[in-house]
Amino acid sequence: ATNRTFTMIKPDAFAAGNAGAILKMIEEAGFKVVAMKATKLTPELAGKFYEVHQARPFYADLCAYMSSGPIFAAILEKDNAVEDFRKLIGATNPADAAEGTIRKIFATSIEANAVHGSDSDENAAIEGNFFFNQAERVL
Ligand code: CMP
Repeated sequence: ATNRTFTMIKPDAFAAGNAGAILKMIEEAGFKVVAMKATKLTPELAGKFYEVHQARPFYADLCAYMSSGPIFAAILEKDNAVEDFRKLIGATNPADAAEGTIRKIFATSIEANAVHGSDSDENAAIEGNFFFNQAERVL
């Protein structure tokens, strides 16, 4: 069924000027952007967004990194959105990402990995609601 996922173009990709090229790949793969904004997370908001990773050794670095510069946040629509988007972006660590995936092409490290993609329909809804109020996601 047609459904939605949530993505962020992370500070490394945004700062490198790769946001347009990444959005082009996303659109060419059949995803429709139904909500999007440029924003910058505070460390506190990054901490809240990544709360599930609180106990991980990389959590503090991740929150600092994700609040280090502007990002794009977006809600994307497509059949099988969550799974197809994770295929398009590739493995978390760009060293393990398949050829032609967004992370293989644009990511620089396991932390600065260019893009986020939700890992389930439930988290896609939670993450989309974190960034967009009802009036911002009516499309
Ligand atoms: P993402 O899948 O968007 O959400 C969790 C993020 O934590 C992940 O992208 C990486 O940016 C980061 N991350 C995951 N594993 C590691 C790790 N082992 N070391 C550093 N950062 C990590």
